[in-house]
Amino acid sequence: MAEQLRLQHADDGRARALGYRRAPAGKSTGGLFGRRDAGPVTSSDVWGDEAAARYDEASAFMFAPDVLGPALDFLADLAGGGPALEFAIGTGRVAIPLAERGVAVSGIELSQPMADRLLAKRGGIPVVVGDMATATVPGEFSLVYVVWNSIGNLRTQAEQVECFRNAARHLAPGGRFVVELWVPGIRRLPPGQSAVPFHVGEHHAGFDTYDMTTQQGTSHHYHRADDGTVTYGASNFRYIWPAECDLMAALAGLAFESRSADWHGRPFTSDSECHVSVWRKPT
Ligand SMILES: C[S@@+](CC[C@H](N)C(=O)[O-])C[C@H]1O[C@@H](n2cnc3c(N)ncnc32)[C@H](O)[C@@H]1O
Repeated sequence: MAEQLRLQHADDGRARALGYRRAPAGKSTGGLFGRRDAGPVTSSDVWGDEAAARYDEASAFMFAPDVLGPALDFLADLAGGGPALEFAIGTGRVAIPLAERGVAVSGIELSQPMADRLLAKRGGIPVVVGDMATATVPGEFSLVYVVWNSIGNLRTQAEQVECFRNAARHLAPGGRFVVELWVPGIRRLPPGQSAVPFHVGEHHAGFDTYDMTTQQGTSHHYHRADDGTVTYGASNFRYIWPAECDLMAALAGLAFESRSADWHGRPFTSDSECHVSVWRKPT
């Protein structure tokens, strides 16, 4: 068992998109953990059939027009009529409505079951099943994007750098790379503690633990069913600072263009919990 939703979700009350993260094999006693498939060499766990089957329903709040609409506006505008490539395209939450706006979208997705779900919903979106740090897609793109914290699924700095380089390889001169990512919540850590709760509710309690020396983190989830049964799931990530993203972009030959706190373009401040960042490939 290898995957888990991060169920901060609709009742969390926080607008920021905190994303799915995966658990190490064998740690889950429930939830949406899947299997680890044979596949590309990556630090990412591979999302399995169960996670893929439940993804859209479990993340319904991220499909809500007020969440998705501003992201689509932003991305369609940056694509500027050119083709777009989504890293970690998943079941097409963003890619499908973007394609319906007339953007020619392609994708890279590590999980075959996630890609299958996308293609079952809508054919005609080319998807390469592979690792977003290394896989290639034919063509040159005016926009490459990775949303909902998915870059954190790569759990080494080297792979994250490679992800930026892979974006740069796929971009046409002048094209943009967009990353939507949360800001690690370590400001909320009291001295001597390593855990930060992100949701405490009747049916779900979740907290993150951080290793400050390695930038590795784990999201822990306890779910209580109506019959009182409690299940535990955990998922791992590597957190990245916004400034570290800028350095990765620079290593990939991309120039910083903008950073906002959300898809609406609100200013990014020291209190922002999320950022939407744009880098540009020189012409
Ligand atoms: C939170 S989901 C996001 C899916 C979609 N982008 C969305 O916004 O709904 C994270 C996705 O990242 C994919 N993923 C994880 N590691 C990956 C990797 N190394 N390369 C490509 N995709 C990866 C997972 O399989 C999953 O589909």
